[in-house]
Amino acid sequence: MKLGLTYNVKKEFADATPLEIKNKASENLINENLIQNYPERVDDTFAEWDSMETIDAIKEALEFGGNEVELIEADDDAFYKLKNYKPDLVFNVAEGFYGASRESQIPSMLEMLNIPYTGSDSISIGICHDKSRSKEILSYYNVPNAPFLISRKRLKNIKGDFPKFVKPLHEGSSKGIYNSSVVNNIEELNKEIERISDSYNQPALIEDFLPGKEFTISMLGNGDDVKVLPVIEINLDEVPEGFNKIYSYEVKWFFDTRENQLDIFRCPADISRELYSEIEDVCKQAFNCLRLKDWSRIDVRLDKNGVPNIVEINPLPGILPDPADNSCFPKAAREIGLNYNQMINEVLNEAKKRYNLK
Ligand SMILES: Nc1ncnc2c1ncn2[C@@H]1O[C@H](COP(=O)(O)OP(=O)(O)O)[C@@H](O)[C@H]1O
Ligand SMILES: [Mg+2]
Repeated sequence: MKLGLTYNVKKEFADATPLEIKNKASENLINENLIQNYPERVDDTFAEWDSMETIDAIKEALEFGGNEVELIEADDDAFYKLKNYKPDLVFNVAEGFYGASRESQIPSMLEMLNIPYTGSDSISIGICHDKSRSKEILSYYNVPNAPFLISRKRLKNIKGDFPKFVKPLHEGSSKGIYNSSVVNNIEELNKEIERISDSYNQPALIEDFLPGKEFTISMLGNGDDVKVLPVIEINLDEVPEGFNKIYSYEVKWFFDTRENQLDIFRCPADISRELYSEIEDVCKQAFNCLRLKDWSRIDVRLDKNGVPNIVEINPLPGILPDPADNSCFPKAAREIGLNYNQMINEVLNEAKKRYNLK
């Protein structure tokens, strides 16, 4: 098949490996006093970008599957490149750069050009990229998620008990999520709302804090046949003393390094059968009520009653190729015996089935 691979890498980091990007991400933290005030001092702009190493690995995997693959960078010439190249199908991992709908832009172009593509469509990707809109749909279908509101301005008071959790409405990769995101009173809450508005120019999503265990779940397939890959537990016991038990930017990018790896993922999660299947069910419901396609990674946490709640959905999951990088989707795939090449070709096959392509 003649395939396009749409992607974004930040130019300055085009040749950097995932490890170098990670080191860059933690540089500011190392240089500064680690425990004090990081939100003010950290530059996390690059947290969401792919490295060229990842894009090359996806290309090789698709070629391994017998396809001809053209790399199509999702820049402002992307539409014409797609129009001229006329691929039979596009493998899309482009996150986009600008706007709340940045992840929807390539899917929209592909729809306009009538080119089939892997993964969720522009509507579903766009909805998942707005964490409040996706929560509204989940709530409509009674899929558990934390009660929330959004605000760009300071609040006088707030319903319900502290702690609350405050995060940017539109980001991923723990961008904007720090130890200070767990707030215990209205002053702390307002400080976080201001920080998010000032640093990321977007509203803050304020949620009830989900105090229980955390999981991340990789989904592969479609509709009733969607497969739930082995549930990964985020082992929050590895979060250093004095820090909130959340998978924050500090934990993801600083405390967990290749040299000093935290034992942060348990795959499969060591939990009761009942809880395991409750998590699987809630993820299937979320996947289908948001009409996701082919693949996704869903974050889940237990609320104070032990009920699995959806935290957020990643329709374009991170897929670092090197097992040493501890990337969740490839890890869950390996657990059922799929290596990286097979995993990528499974996603491709799911899309081909949907479009009735041979
Ligand atoms: N309501 C919440 N209660 C408790 N922890 C939360 C809540 N929302 C997010 N978190 C923590 O913050 C982390 C990052 O939040 P998430 O919404 O997944 O952002 P990202 O898109 O950056 O991955 C989660 O993995 C979890 O540890
Ligand atoms: Mg997440």
